[in-house]
Amino acid sequence: MIAAKAIKTVAVAVSSVDEPLPGVKRIVLNDQDNWPLPPFSPGAHIDLHLGGGLVRTYSLCNEPAENDRYVIAVKREAAGRGGSAYIHDNLEEGTFVGVSLPRGGIQTVDSALNVFIAGGIGVTPFISAIRDLELRGQTNYVLHWSSMGAPSLIDMLGEAMAAGRVKLYDTLVEPVPDLAAILDAYGSVCKAYCCGPAGMLDAFENVVCSWPDSRKHIERFTPPKPVQSPSLKAYTVVLAKSKKEMTVEPHVGLLKTLEALEADVSVSCGGGICGACRTRWLEGPPIHRDRILSSEEREQEVMVCVAECAGSRLVLDL
Ligand code: FES
Repeated sequence: MIAAKAIKTVAVAVSSVDEPLPGVKRIVLNDQDNWPLPPFSPGAHIDLHLGGGLVRTYSLCNEPAENDRYVIAVKREAAGRGGSAYIHDNLEEGTFVGVSLPRGGIQTVDSALNVFIAGGIGVTPFISAIRDLELRGQTNYVLHWSSMGAPSLIDMLGEAMAAGRVKLYDTLVEPVPDLAAILDAYGSVCKAYCCGPAGMLDAFENVVCSWPDSRKHIERFTPPKPVQSPSLKAYTVVLAKSKKEMTVEPHVGLLKTLEALEADVSVSCGGGICGACRTRWLEGPPIHRDRILSSEEREQEVMVCVAECAGSRLVLDL
């Protein structure tokens, strides 16, 4: 994990841990002195700073109205990079952890149907969004949720289940759902969201590739492999506020150059999927390689962990 300067964290304590399904732990975090926690949007992300440079990002699965706790759910990934195993083995009631301020989240719409498509533990941000909709009296949503065997956090979706707004698919006994057919059935009057394994996200991305950004939302937690452009040339990165600049050599890249400049930018995933390094750009244009900014947002902002510059000068608002 790349170190970053001035990472802002909040110290929280684990107040409870349970295991709603073998291999999935639900962890509740509170302020140590029971003060309200920084507010968040439905399904916002927080980074857990676990010590020794280990940082992992999770979606909050409780609703923003609960301002005194953050709830996350972590599946032990046997073939993962070690973060989920660390959490499963070390976090228990009373453990202190540093967490980042919540960022991002899901912007649901009130004027159209919200269609959530989840695979396994990818349901977490949608639980938060659904509970938020319900609290606001909104029933304009449906959740299509596939998992291998029993789903893991079903107790958090009691109202949605009772109202018949959740369609479950057990992929141990039935085929994976046909996302094109599902979305087709709702026509152009929905906003669609997807979070789950890479195969599901790719299938979803294919189906909605021609949809406007305002009608789709994809949550990724595994950064795609970095791409190197062989035609990339050296350029100058300028930090407008701190008045520093440096040449970015193609083999070094923007992020490492920003590190050398001690730029005040937070980095978590390092792969353009979490939003931690979101930065305003003033002159460029940047080459965007993230997976989260909309084309409109890209006109002003850039995820510097994966970006480069298409011109000779990239000026950042840092
Ligand atoms: S650090 Fe996650 S998007 Fe840049």
